[in-house]
Amino acid sequence: MSTSAADMDALHTRADAAAQSAYAPYSRLHVGAALRSASGRIYTGCNVENASFSIGGCAERAAIAAAVQAEGQAFRLDAIAVAAFRDDGLALPITPCGACRQALVEFGADAQVGFRQPDGTWLTVSADALLPYRFCFPDR
Ligand code: THU
Repeated sequence: MSTSAADMDALHTRADAAAQSAYAPYSRLHVGAALRSASGRIYTGCNVENASFSIGGCAERAAIAAAVQAEGQAFRLDAIAVAAFRDDGLALPITPCGACRQALVEFGADAQVGFRQPDGTWLTVSADALLPYRFCFPDR
């Protein structure tokens, strides 16, 4: 199942909503992600921090974990949107971090990845384009 522009818009809305659940008292960056699996179902995630800053969790990988838990080995990623907000509610442009990019290509190198640009409009690119020269097991 492919993801239309209307489906992508729905993911933008769901990512914005998911960011409201973020637990981000340290960075104060509230991140939400909403993904659409190949089955057409939508899963969301938010960032969850803790006092040991480096081991907090990103929104994208939280959404992926929810999808894998629900769909198991069959899960394939069709599209994901990621949104970020400041404490005062201002939308900020972000792109997925490096670790999340590796997780995105694991489940869908051709997946569409949407994020806000500095002018507030959404841009969609492929997961593949976000992580050239990525790590792959050389013998698999
Ligand atoms: N964050 C995400 O949730 N996704 C990303 O792709 C980049 C960063 C979160 C992690 C941390 O809670 C906060 O944003 C600042 O790095």
